Amino acid sequence: DRPRPLVAGNWKMNGTRASQAVVEAVRDGLDPALAGRIDVLVCPPATLVGAFAQALAGSAVRVGGQDVHAAASGAHTGCVSAEMLADLGATHTIVGHSERRADHHETDADVRAKALAAHRAGLIAILCVGETRAEREAGRTLDVVRGQLAGSLPDGATAAATVIAYEPVWAIGTGLTPTAADVAEVHGLIRRELAARLGEEGARIRILYGGSVKPQNAAELMAVPNVDGALVGGASLKAEDFLGIAAAYC
Ligand code: G3H
Repeated sequence: DRPRPLVAGNWKMNGTRASQAVVEAVRDGLDPALAGRIDVLVCPPATLVGAFAQALAGSAVRVGGQDVHAAASGAHTGCVSAEMLADLGATHTIVGHSERRADHHETDADVRAKALAAHRAGLIAILCVGETRAEREAGRTLDVVRGQLAGSLPDGATAAATVIAYEPVWAIGTGLTPTAADVAEVHGLIRRELAARLGEEGARIRILYGGSVKPQNAAELMAVPNVDGALVGGASLKAEDFLGIAAAYC
């Protein structure tokens, strides 16, 4: 029994109120039969979470954040807490995206605290891991991913509240993707690590692939063992492309 797939869009720092037309097109274009088999999620900037949650209320499309602060509230100028996202109607949040790890120097311990904050607020945490080009070329991919997972996955994580996203940094926004064999190797490692830490629960945690997923390559990537969905960046900004990726599950 494979876990129910999740196709998630990460809009990154893109979108204004006018972009609501895109999520409405996703909502209206999603085949109901497909929506019965997979979960679909859009993670816009925090500024749009409330409006999108209202636009998508009662539909099969969920809304999530891209990051949270570890604290529920307090003197943290410019930050957004998991409780605030939940209050707006978010059901998920990404934590530990490589752009946060690189641009904001987030450590595995920081990411772990953010995943715990998501859980505290009742959000599903999508926890990202992945190696850089230099790490891959040095043959360190499996060690890096194992280390990030060990350091950032909270003890007692459940399949209901936790999703892992494997995103090779060199594949993000570049049009490059690992081979199916490479994806299978890393996802297999993540599955074994999850099972070793969490037992049967670890077998049920969804593991997404992210990095230059497009309608053209989605079916091949989604057919790889232990790939339980996709975390989509650029292609999630166009309803047609995002729906095309979701359709890879037909
Ligand atoms: O979170 C999404 C990823 O960073 C993938 O981005 O699909 O634009 O390569 P991309």
